[in-house]
Amino acid sequence: MSKEHVLKSVDIIVSKGNAEGNITYANPIFVKLSGYSMGELLDKPHSILRHPDMPKLIFKFLWDNLKEGNDVIAFVKNRSKDGSFYWVLAHVRVAKNPDGSFRNYVSTRKPVTEHAKELIEPLYAKMLVAEEESGMNGSLKILETFLSENNASLATFNETMKKLNN
Ligand SMILES: Cc1cc2nc3c(=O)[nH]c(=O)nc-3n(C[C@H](O)[C@H](O)[C@H](O)COP(=O)(O)O)c2cc1C
Repeated sequence: MSKEHVLKSVDIIVSKGNAEGNITYANPIFVKLSGYSMGELLDKPHSILRHPDMPKLIFKFLWDNLKEGNDVIAFVKNRSKDGSFYWVLAHVRVAKNPDGSFRNYVSTRKPVTEHAKELIEPLYAKMLVAEEESGMNGSLKILETFLSENNASLATFNETMKKLNN
């Protein structure tokens, strides 16, 4: 079993990315948790932190929404350089220049409650299995079932994730 880093309630992990999602800024907590040096992180894709337990659909949902200019709030399990992991509730948004053109993507991440982890871990595990068996469609069905069981839908994804973390 790899080691889990549990974040303190005051920890806010921030990074920014360019249009391709490559890291252009990382705050000290981001750098520390990742296990990489700032030099190793800058200009690298954010997927440097991708944990194999993460369903592909969550990132597809993230990018589909970002491309539309919409924020996404989602639980993410990240992997550090040494193989340890940490859970975050990420809020990713598109920042614009004063003239309305694209500036960058900004992600702020907060600690995840035990309650939320108990719900999200089995959900993501089921989505992963579905992706292996029947691809994104199978995964989407599992996610939609989970949301409807929580009186929610994809349209209320962000607020539902936020609520689950209470
Ligand atoms: C601002 C920003 C922050 C991101 N932060 C993370 C992150 O912390 N962990 C992660 O696995 N992916 C993060 N992503 C998503 C990655 O860009 C990528 O889609 C994901 O890691 C899946 O990798 P893949 O698209 O190569 O399959 C972030 C994307 C953006 C734009």
